[in-house]
Amino acid sequence: MATIHDVAKLAGVSTSTVSRVLSRSRPVNPESARKVVAAAEQLGYRYNAVARALRTNRSNTIGMLVPQISNPFFPALVEAVERRLQREGLELLLCDSQRDVDVEARRLRTLVERQVDGIIISPYDFTGSIPAVSGVIGQIPVIQVDRRVDGTLSDWVGADDWAGLAQVIDLLVSVGRRRLVFVSSAHTNYSGRARSDAFDAALRRHGLEAARTALLGSFEVEWGLEAARRLIGDLDTVDGIVCGNDAIALGVLRGLRQAGVRVPDDVAVTGFDDITFAEISDPPLTTVRQQWDVMADECVRLLLQPDTYGPRSIAIAPTLQIRESTPKPEAP
Ligand code: RIB
Repeated sequence: MATIHDVAKLAGVSTSTVSRVLSRSRPVNPESARKVVAAAEQLGYRYNAVARALRTNRSNTIGMLVPQISNPFFPALVEAVERRLQREGLELLLCDSQRDVDVEARRLRTLVERQVDGIIISPYDFTGSIPAVSGVIGQIPVIQVDRRVDGTLSDWVGADDWAGLAQVIDLLVSVGRRRLVFVSSAHTNYSGRARSDAFDAALRRHGLEAARTALLGSFEVEWGLEAARRLIGDLDTVDGIVCGNDAIALGVLRGLRQAGVRVPDDVAVTGFDDITFAEISDPPLTTVRQQWDVMADECVRLLLQPDTYGPRSIAIAPTLQIRESTPKPEAP
């Protein structure tokens, strides 16, 4: 069993630094904190669960950092987290990393300096966010939500992307759509990576291959519009467009409509999130609904309950919302 001395030796710091990092008694140099967390991870060192309790000099404030507050998914998640924190008598301090890892790092430093008792973060970049996220993990309790960085640096709560895409592909296959293409975000963030893998796995389960190479850009309406324009000349080989989130799907619907393509008659379209606009789009969008209330409950539960066995991952299955952008399933 690794000891604090082993962690200190591997990290190249003193045992008192290791203790300060893991007990968060006092702020520590972010680089040292990162080294200590990485060494503890590598050695499987399990620190005293009590040490993970919220700081003694509590501010009763939790910091939250999201990649892009203008994307409708994030306000829904933030609202759910704030409601849940209020039930614990805790306040929320919200920051937007503006899809920039340098801004994200600055916001994290600000939250620590403002003495928040813990941080809930959806990291912008799968690898680029690692230094900043691991730097704060050694200082205060951190929960990653929705997106995560590479490695198991802290507790994580998010969507079960594989369950979500499986429901979508099962639905499309059940209504006879088998020539499917994936339109989503590039693999720079966790959600983009996970959903691409989930799409491929769901197709394999049905013995299918993608009708053409995935179109990967960003979780934006504009990318959906661009993808639709690229697909218009190819639609005789595609009968379903599976989108990595609702914003992309709304852009795809608009692009198809501009080209006179009928949804779902000519091609079905699906999304992921179930933002407010999904239900009022034309046609209303078939999607999977992220359980942000459950995610919020789990984030706050993990934040308030020190872990005893190291980082935990909680994936929550989204629920299928069948609407008019896919053919009507046969009555059972
Ligand atoms: O819509 C933005 C996407 O990025 C959502 O699906 C959410 O999961 C976030 O990761």
